[in-house]
Amino acid sequence: MSASNDPLVIFTPSGKRGHFAVGTPILTAARQLGVDLDSVCGGRGICSKCQIQPSYGEFSKHGVTVADDALSEWNSVEERYKSKRGMIDGRRLGCQAQVQGDVVIDVPPESQVHKQVVRKRAEARDIVMDPSTKLYYVEIQEPDMHDPTGDLERLVKALRDQWELPHLEADLGILQTMQPILRKGGWKVTCAVHLGDDMFSPRIMHIWPGFYEGTIYGLAVDLGSTTIAGHLCDLQSGEVVASSGIMNPQIRFGEDLMSRVSYSMMNKNGAEEMTRAVRDGMNALFVNIANEAEIDRNLIVDAVFVCNPVMHHLFLGIDPFELGQAPFALATSDSISIRGLELGLNLHPAARVYLLPCIAGHVGADAAAVALSEAPDKSEDLVLVVDVGTNAEILLGNKDKVLACSSPTGPAFEGAQISSGQRAAPGAIERVMIDPITKEPRFRVIGSDLWSDEDGFEESILSSGITGICGSGIIEMVAEMRLAGIVDGPGLIGSPTQTGTERCFLDGRTHSYLVWDGTEKGGPRITVTNRDIREIQMAKAALYSGARLLMDKFGVDTVDRIVLAGAFGAHISPKHAMVLGMIPDCPLEKVTSAGNAAGTGARIALLNTSSRREIEKTVKDIHKIETAIEPRFQEHFVNASAIPNSVEKFPILETHVTIPNVNFNTGSDDDGRSGGGRRRRRRG
Ligand code: FES
Repeated sequence: MSASNDPLVIFTPSGKRGHFAVGTPILTAARQLGVDLDSVCGGRGICSKCQIQPSYGEFSKHGVTVADDALSEWNSVEERYKSKRGMIDGRRLGCQAQVQGDVVIDVPPESQVHKQVVRKRAEARDIVMDPSTKLYYVEIQEPDMHDPTGDLERLVKALRDQWELPHLEADLGILQTMQPILRKGGWKVTCAVHLGDDMFSPRIMHIWPGFYEGTIYGLAVDLGSTTIAGHLCDLQSGEVVASSGIMNPQIRFGEDLMSRVSYSMMNKNGAEEMTRAVRDGMNALFVNIANEAEIDRNLIVDAVFVCNPVMHHLFLGIDPFELGQAPFALATSDSISIRGLELGLNLHPAARVYLLPCIAGHVGADAAAVALSEAPDKSEDLVLVVDVGTNAEILLGNKDKVLACSSPTGPAFEGAQISSGQRAAPGAIERVMIDPITKEPRFRVIGSDLWSDEDGFEESILSSGITGICGSGIIEMVAEMRLAGIVDGPGLIGSPTQTGTERCFLDGRTHSYLVWDGTEKGGPRITVTNRDIREIQMAKAALYSGARLLMDKFGVDTVDRIVLAGAFGAHISPKHAMVLGMIPDCPLEKVTSAGNAAGTGARIALLNTSSRREIEKTVKDIHKIETAIEPRFQEHFVNASAIPNSVEKFPILETHVTIPNVNFNTGSDDDGRSGGGRRRRRRG
């Protein structure tokens, strides 16, 4: 910066301003003021990352008038770039345009290093780009007989001098390939530099000859017990360029986590087998995702994983034995930074892998990722975050305090252990309405936008058929059956006489409800049995009891808002969840879905390395509640098995729906209503 009679340069949107001598490049001015303006080539007019938008005319707000000649003339470097690659009219290259007079310069989002990756939900905070690895173009001094330094030393010096980077290290792989690259590039190269973290010192990850036009990638992976989902992100723009998922190959060792822990206990080398399976699955996923994005897997230099504690241990090759028994000790609850090679992952040979910290023996890195994404610790109001899956991870808190627990909901919410249940796939019933007068159901299946009583429905499901009921469908189904008076409060399905519909039929010792009979055309007969109702009662009682326990510990009876997370959480209808009594009473408009919040948390940690430090700290401050040893959990569980809960008043729900007061217990049989509160499900 310079004297006050020099031209004034004002940057937007930052509002930073300063006086600069005539002839100062805009990039230099931006750097001196600390304006966030990107550059990979260091002002050499090659990368075009420094594009800016000058504005001309009167700016009373800023107290300046910008003349047409406030910047130096459009030059040949800019012309060459624009004719070869194209550039929006009115834009200039910040490293080429020089200050001639007072000027207002807008830095468009794509030219900001710390640009924000906008998230779709209004209440979610955007991700500020701050990746672990960045690209730098440098020009290196050629070797000289009189100055006998190695090529690497001169490269490191160039990176330090031209980019103010700290001393960088390099792996053997770099040394083995570097010399021909330096010469091929005419002593000009682009380096991918990992900027270092607690575990690794800053180092050169990769070198390309000359200016590297491409980009580098990172992976955010949600390693679930059932599925593994990966998002491939451009580490420069933050964009998700491809997403892909596979079934977790460990399923063959057991559907739920507990059966996988027992497999490792019962079988010699069982844990190793499962570790191999999940890593192989992971590599298969990487192949899929790289193919989809049409990129070389070697360009993936960073990966972030979130998972529950059992998957965490199995993925790292740690026997999960201790997680199968009290006090559920983790090998480590801290975050882990490791080289991908050590885990046998086929990414760039120097790729780094980061696992978020675990919260406790039953509350894993996936819950930490949900905390990072939904930030209950920054919330002004009291928020209950429920990640619904085989286990429900529950967080309750605000900026003063956050509590967490895990509740063993079992697989019913995923459609498992339900007689007509299935995973969410085309053909599965996902939405249901039952007429309270006729008791006739209408429904929608995945793959069709039409309701079952709408014209064209039959044709729309020709390829998928109607195959079963998925997790969100079964919740709506049970809630609708309750609202239509087909199921009573304790969870018993009524007889045809009690309910007034032949769709209810005697099925062994209890009644079932016929949803759809496709047998005439060779399809399935889809029913809801009393056992199904009981499975849902247990699952929802576990979920509710966990939430309620945290509320007790917090000393509150209500929460201000509820966030349903998890792929399944995204599809639950808040009204039906409340009719069932899955969640505490809360204004319906205050119940929102966060989609796959764990996956989003992984993406945040991938794109913004400072968020890794943030969540490591947050996790230490989260109070963990172990449901297994809390007597009140059992008490809540028993009360919560009724539909809705016998403990909750649900005043908000009552303004939206009328829940019939029916009781089908004739005293002859209690099979249908006894199980809800009595049996504690094993963790899974
Ligand atoms: S800084 Fe690379 S083109 Fe301007």
